[in-house]
Amino acid sequence: MHILIANDHGAVELKAAIVAALSAKGHTVDNLGVDGPDSVDYPDRARLAAERYLAGGYDFGILCCGSGIGISIAANKIRGIRCAQVFDLYTAEMCKRHNDANFISFGGRVSYPVPVIEMIEAYMAAEYEGGRHAARVAKIEAGG
Ligand code: RB5
Repeated sequence: MHILIANDHGAVELKAAIVAALSAKGHTVDNLGVDGPDSVDYPDRARLAAERYLAGGYDFGILCCGSGIGISIAANKIRGIRCAQVFDLYTAEMCKRHNDANFISFGGRVSYPVPVIEMIEAYMAAEYEGGRHAARVAKIEAGG
């Protein structure tokens, strides 16, 4: 898959680990940064990734900040982005099956019950079900 990833200073190590793991599995991962410890604003990272994704060519995006919360909130303010803050294998799967999430977010300072790469793989393995969920997703896209 063709994946993009962006993060703030709270998730530099997590981001690097995700890029390494996905690349080792043969995926193409475009790293939009940041890669150093200097403080940056997560809404800026979310907007950069969202605009790049919406331009086309990507299967999905990954956003990381300290908690996974702020960057997800910021991404979800951008029309066309449905970012799910994933925290276990269930939410990883269901955000694709029911919500057609096109971004998933994680926190570099969060202790998860399973490795983040396993949650990403659960998301990637899932398929959007459409059907009764399509009208709900359409309402989200219409603004609520
Ligand atoms: C940055 O310190 C931190 O606030 C940010 O990474 C994120 O956790 C916000 O939701």
